[in-house]
Amino acid sequence: MKLSVIGCGYLGAAHAAAMASIGHEVIGIDVDQRKIDALAKGEPPFFEPGLAEILAEGIASGRLRFTTDLADAADATVHFVGVGTPQQKDGYAADLTSVNAAVDALLPYLTEGDIVAGKSTVPVGTAAVLAERVSPTGATLVWNPEFLREGWAVEDTIDPDRLVAGVPAGDEGERAASVLREVYHPSVAKGTPFIVTDYATAELVKVAANAFLATKISFINAMAEISEATGADVTQLADAIGYDARIGRRFLGAGIGFGGGCLPKDIRAFAARAEELGRGESVAFLRQVDEINMRRRDRAVQLVVDGLGGSPFKKNITVLGAAFKPHSDDIRDSPGLDVAVRLHGLGAWVTITDPAAIDNAQRIHPQLNYVHDRDDALRGADAVIVVTEWDEYRRELSPDHATALATGRVIVDGRNCLDAAAWRAAGWNYYGMGRP
Ligand code: UGA
Repeated sequence: MKLSVIGCGYLGAAHAAAMASIGHEVIGIDVDQRKIDALAKGEPPFFEPGLAEILAEGIASGRLRFTTDLADAADATVHFVGVGTPQQKDGYAADLTSVNAAVDALLPYLTEGDIVAGKSTVPVGTAAVLAERVSPTGATLVWNPEFLREGWAVEDTIDPDRLVAGVPAGDEGERAASVLREVYHPSVAKGTPFIVTDYATAELVKVAANAFLATKISFINAMAEISEATGADVTQLADAIGYDARIGRRFLGAGIGFGGGCLPKDIRAFAARAEELGRGESVAFLRQVDEINMRRRDRAVQLVVDGLGGSPFKKNITVLGAAFKPHSDDIRDSPGLDVAVRLHGLGAWVTITDPAAIDNAQRIHPQLNYVHDRDDALRGADAVIVVTEWDEYRRELSPDHATALATGRVIVDGRNCLDAAAWRAAGWNYYGMGRP
């Protein structure tokens, strides 16, 4: 099939390349010339494992092209819209400027029977409004939310857990759903659940999923706070409750909390939309989810300060990690980078390293000292804090090796990812999050 993908960020670029890899002819479109130039050369403009390979494959096959010219979408019959919906600058609601602009710009190129598939995360009610603009062209709007995780984008796009299609009622909706089934043929053929529903449900599935994940993380971080008050160990607690299949261990990783371009802004936009609907109280707990999450950053800063005997002033602090999570170079709302900036604000000399995110972090926070080599970053440190659980820090950094480089013996484990006993045995003062 001929597809267009409008918006080539983390979501769109992965979607375009993945769709070409399953055999479709795809044109990726973005207003950012630099991004398009890189993608057209087969170079992902961001770090995403596996993306370079399927980009190169798609371009070599002739099935995958990139352009800034929306007119090139005219040949396609299914148009995916995957542009960003960031938090508004002056509030918690989602900024829909790019989604509205992308759909409006696409209208002149739509023909009878085309499908416009919205993938961006939007406030419930958006699709119904957009459908009114699309329908005079004879095309049909469907809402087809995306659940990919950064770092696993290729895998999640090619082989998702489920597919969701919000469609209009009646024959038009049925036809649109069957076109989407054809687009996702390999997944449908292997039995991946394909849920056909209305617009509002499809939009809500996406925000509800992210709200649930954020709640799960803040739940365990709340237990970390209680553990800190009682001497309990939240990691053992998470293991023990996680064995209950109804609870499950995934997303019960206590630490400095969630960040990134999705969870934080999605729970805020959801709460803002619920307020607009007069149902603010239904998701009032999301405010606490957010607050618990932000408190963990305070706690991490406090642990470093305590470890240093009460003041980080003129102390060398090495921060291991900058990305909001491993296998990504994304620093949007990165809790670890926030902790680094706060320590700098307290007068510490902060050195920060990361296998993928240094360039992005340096652009936004040039005041920190960035070092590419992990060992160079550790040299002379009075205290070390792990904020992103990359293998380079979690598995490949032995306490003895760190001992040879650092000056101090303070290690704060912001992701509860280190072997506490091994660090203690090597003479370090180990501080976990919610662990004695
Ligand atoms: C999230 C969702 O997991 C995806 O399903 C969704 O498609 C995506 O948002 C989106 O809306 O586009 P992502 O932002 O890539 O994906 O990251 P996650 O893997 O969900 O991690 C989010 C944050 O939670 C990270 O900062 C991570 O370190 C943190 N986290 C995760 C914890 O603090 N504890 C955990 O146990 C798990």
